[in-house]
Amino acid sequence: MKKRSSLIAPLGLLLLTACTEDTIAGPNAVQNGQEIYAKECSACHGAQGRGSGPASYDLGVAPPDLAGLQRRNDGYFPREFVRRFIMGRLEKDDPASPMPDFSQVGLRHVYPNGGANGEVLETDFADLLDYLEAIQE
Ligand code: HEC
Repeated sequence: MKKRSSLIAPLGLLLLTACTEDTIAGPNAVQNGQEIYAKECSACHGAQGRGSGPASYDLGVAPPDLAGLQRRNDGYFPREFVRRFIMGRLEKDDPASPMPDFSQVGLRHVYPNGGANGEVLETDFADLLDYLEAIQE
């Protein structure tokens, strides 16, 4: 008996955390994510995430279509991949690629006055990922 309850409790906690942090994407989360996307990403990845933003023409490398991430990944939105890529935790194909490492530069267009100490807040980040997931086609 003792063994069983000690197993179930952490599982419940895990599920609770998973639900509150990741799976419930309310309209506010997606809307906040859209605003962050518009300020930090759209210049390169385009207003709808399909590439060809105004700043993309000088880059020499085309920013990938972000609305097709799920399609290119066997129908699953690669949330963890996107999280790590944005935070500079994955090696890029081309180390000189202009894709910013947001763990270094922060959300500088969302917080131009240095709010959030230049850090990427977990809530903002979750909202951004919710938005990207919402635009998958
Ligand atoms: C200065 C232009 C620029 C900005 C701003 C930018 N990106 Fe990128 N992004 C790129 C380029 C170029 C690549 C291709 C890099 C490579 O493959 O090494 C890329 C690649 C990616 C990838 C990998 C996609 C794949 O299929 O491999 C993701 C995910 C991504 N960007 C998300 C974002 C998000 C989210 C933001 C905003 C928070 C953002 N990017 C801001 C230029 C940019």
